[in-house]
Amino acid sequence: MPEIKFYKHDPIPMEMHKVKIVQKLNLLPVDERLKKMQEAGFNTFQLHNGDIFMDMLTDSGVNAMSDNMQSAMLRADDAYAGSETFYRMNDKLTELFGIKYLLPAHQGRACENILAQRFVKPGNCVIMNYHFTTAKAHITRLGGRVEELVKDEGLVSKSTLPFKGNIDLEKLEACILKETPENVPYMRLEAGTNLIGGQPISYENMKAATDITRKYGILSVLDASLLQDNLYFIKTREESMKDKSTAEILRMIADLFDIIYFSGRKFGFARGGGILVRDEALFHSMEDLVPMFEGFLTYGGMSVKEMEAMIIGFDESLDMDIISQGPQFIKYCVDQLDAYGVPMITPGGGLGAHIDASQVVSHIPQEQYPAGALVCALYICGGIRGMERGTLSEERNADGSERFASMELVRLALPRRVFTLSQTEYVIDRVKWVYDHRHLIEGLRFVHEPKTLRFFTGRLEPVSDWPEKLAAAYKADFGEDQ
Ligand code: F0G
Repeated sequence: MPEIKFYKHDPIPMEMHKVKIVQKLNLLPVDERLKKMQEAGFNTFQLHNGDIFMDMLTDSGVNAMSDNMQSAMLRADDAYAGSETFYRMNDKLTELFGIKYLLPAHQGRACENILAQRFVKPGNCVIMNYHFTTAKAHITRLGGRVEELVKDEGLVSKSTLPFKGNIDLEKLEACILKETPENVPYMRLEAGTNLIGGQPISYENMKAATDITRKYGILSVLDASLLQDNLYFIKTREESMKDKSTAEILRMIADLFDIIYFSGRKFGFARGGGILVRDEALFHSMEDLVPMFEGFLTYGGMSVKEMEAMIIGFDESLDMDIISQGPQFIKYCVDQLDAYGVPMITPGGGLGAHIDASQVVSHIPQEQYPAGALVCALYICGGIRGMERGTLSEERNADGSERFASMELVRLALPRRVFTLSQTEYVIDRVKWVYDHRHLIEGLRFVHEPKTLRFFTGRLEPVSDWPEKLAAAYKADFGEDQ
């Protein structure tokens, strides 16, 4: 969507939809939010949604559906085996990606489980531009390792680079040679690279990387969960692609890969997932894992209603009016906060606005989870639920020491078509307030630390009474009831 021009001021992001169904929000007073944070063990995953004003935890499974998606749900064909809905979904994906075989799965991590089980042996090395938490956990669970070869600039928080998710091609080739191709079961490229700020990969980089893996006979896998954002960025930032349609770009990308999987909680705006496999024999070699872990091969653990919605959602993922919304709102948020002096990941990517906690609360040591503390502060001061994407989201090294994340981020996700500009303004305002009171924030420590994916269910406590002090300062500025 080209920006809508304004007569009296600069363009602002414009919602290209109207609201048809609403959900009432609840803004608890600050003292109650402090109590809820304590009850949640200073882990935003443990908060109840009814206690949250702006739920910016994730864009996963919480994107707004369109009227067309909802109406499609009515024609869902419920059948244990042979559901017509499945064939419609398979046909739609084949039409878009040019890949014939589909293994359905209940969500993205289920696809990662199937791929890891099929391909990863102890000692193997899976090469990625950057890991995603669940993708990595499945590989390490099976004794594999992950090498992250995103270009160094991808980890620099303030930048103007358009494609910070690009993999370093020299490092890729060197890594293959060092590991030997036999020890690399696949390369996984992640579109819209989640953990470094929803940063895209260029088509040119995907092409060059897959040329290298093909040369060495290594399978190439695309994680397309955030592909809709990446498509938008390729069309708007990659000069050679700007005259191509999103459908053409998607097809050019798809043609590069042997396997493409996605979380339908993101790509498709519904809830589900799937693996597209180009080679028939490879497809059959994974087939048995679907009925064993997911459900029969024609639903894979998904509700058929969601599958019908997703079929429409896939087409909507190619509509620039729709896929421009997230990036435009994120850019607005990032630019406003950056101009105020808040260290942000720039340029804004997809998925959400990302705050560089390592700079905002640079006085908190990494072993006290700076991003984890900042995300709690934002809930206390505004009822905004973000997600920690830093050391807390990592797993410890085998010897029990902390594995420090290369970036300490607080992610404020902007689920698609959900929030308005005034709500976004509120968030910007509260982030500014927290930034100006950052010296009041201190660290966290674990009181219950699960071994795997500890960020989901772990419980923490503050290292001092800083949350009370922060709440008192907030009350002094905004009153008791805000
Ligand atoms: N790959 C990427 C790039 C993701 O962002 C996610 C999920 C997954 C795979 C796993 O998919 O949740 O359907 O099992 N990201 C969510 C998030 C959880 O909040 O960023 P899933």
